Amino acid sequence: MKLNHVFKSVTSTLDSISQGEENFEYRDIYNYLLIVASTFGCNFSRALDLLNNSEPALQDSALHKQLKADVLYCLHDEDAALEMYVEVAGIKPNDAYLFLQMARILIGREKYETKRKFVNARKLLNHSLALAPEEYHAKKLLEELQHFESCGYVHEASQTAATDFPLFLYPKTLFIFLTTRCNIRCRICARDNHSGIDLDFPNIYKLEKAIRYAEIIDLTGWGECFIYSKIKDVLHYIYSIKSDRCMQITTNGTLLSAEFGGLLAGRIHRLTISLNAATAETYNRDMKYSNFSSTIDNIKAFIENVDELDRKNITLHFVAHTGNFREISEFVSLAKELGIPTISIGNFLSASIQDSEMTLLHVKNEYNEIITISEKIAVEAGINFSARKFGYETIKPVQDCKDPFDSCFILPDGEVGGPCCFSGTYSLGNVYESCFEDVWFSEKYERLRRTRHLEACRHCVPFTPFDDVECHFSGEIKKTDEFSNYKQLVKHSP
Ligand SMILES: C[S@@+](CC[C@H](N)C(=O)[O-])C[C@H]1O[C@@H](n2cnc3c(N)ncnc32)[C@H](O)[C@@H]1O
Ligand code: SF4
Ligand code: SF4
Repeated sequence: MKLNHVFKSVTSTLDSISQGEENFEYRDIYNYLLIVASTFGCNFSRALDLLNNSEPALQDSALHKQLKADVLYCLHDEDAALEMYVEVAGIKPNDAYLFLQMARILIGREKYETKRKFVNARKLLNHSLALAPEEYHAKKLLEELQHFESCGYVHEASQTAATDFPLFLYPKTLFIFLTTRCNIRCRICARDNHSGIDLDFPNIYKLEKAIRYAEIIDLTGWGECFIYSKIKDVLHYIYSIKSDRCMQITTNGTLLSAEFGGLLAGRIHRLTISLNAATAETYNRDMKYSNFSSTIDNIKAFIENVDELDRKNITLHFVAHTGNFREISEFVSLAKELGIPTISIGNFLSASIQDSEMTLLHVKNEYNEIITISEKIAVEAGINFSARKFGYETIKPVQDCKDPFDSCFILPDGEVGGPCCFSGTYSLGNVYESCFEDVWFSEKYERLRRTRHLEACRHCVPFTPFDDVECHFSGEIKKTDEFSNYKQLVKHSP
């Protein structure tokens, strides 16, 4: 990670030289290339020497100072690094705002990783507040730091693996399952009881680096994440590491509220609400223990409390089967009424031969017609609409699947149960029993990246044409003899 800081810093310096923003000579560029080389060899002392012996004009440049601060940081000379960062930020002894910025830089780098850095950030914030007692952001940040300290989020030392793997090799999307329990029972869902397992909250600290380096954190899991009693703590912990719009959640929407809207405001990368019905009648029939009007009220209260950009990132989801697909065009109107800009239509994946009657394979033509009509209504309503159709798709090579590189699915007990939600049960290792890096960078994972050898990869839903029977059944059932027999039967039926 430290290597990444320096590498980024050196490359941005070289970029600005090549774009002519900094008027450096050839030898300066050569000098920087040497620094890059030293950095790659983790020879930070050599990099520091080179920086100290650079041309005086170069040493005055902000980029050079920034780089030096990063190199000092890699050499664990944090005090000197901090001094240098202060110099880069141009902090004057009476500038409260800049002290705040400085604390932010420090927090952004190694947020809460060690007590020492935490103490430094707090010192800077107190300094800022001493100069400007009413500074809102400094007060808020300080409160946040105190909150994390009292919750025990601040560790004496990092609990994660010491090995430095490059940032870009970590997963882009990290799926952290909070629970496999659910508060309702959907007709489409394979679960048949309310039991399940929850994440043991302190285990989340073990994912610190993976969270920091991911672009998107998904909390969905196989259950309903909003019933997890520590979901607010999970959000606070993630926010303590990441400051961007990184949250992704798929929810049944029943527990959305004004309070959760406030908690997720400014943070939603994507929120998908699975309603699977457009009318109270169908919803109340298919979503046992839930109620259409109260779910709609809760969604409205949630939406009112998020910001404009969050709202643009909300999707209403509909899993279509033989018993509900005729409501798809009404679903477009419902999205319009709720002010939700996007609809996705998924197809019901059957987990058993008994439920195969519900798959869209039985209503191909009528389903296609309804999708065509709904697409038109969506265009008129200004709603983004996506759905697969029969008769249009060809096979896509499964090697195009980027999931083993981009996504990591961590079950509540730490098992990495496969690279995606189509792979069924498979164990790639346990990140809570060992550590994230041991599993993600393991030989087993590497093999999957090279070969896509799982049974599920051979008939994977997104890579199988919609007309293919395999595209309408979930991963586990496809491994069984019962399913092979069923396929033969379908193949030979008129
Ligand atoms: C397993 S759920 C978990 C999240 C949350 N409880 C929910 O329902 O949105 C994740 C997604 O899978 C969808 N889903 C559940 N059962 C399905 C099935 N048999 N076929 C296709 N999609 C299904 C849900 O509608 C939801 O969009
Ligand atoms: S809400 Fe989600 S997890 Fe719960 S029963 Fe429905 S599909 Fe399954
Ligand atoms: S099952 Fe499908 S999505 Fe999952 S890794 Fe294999 S090919 Fe990719």
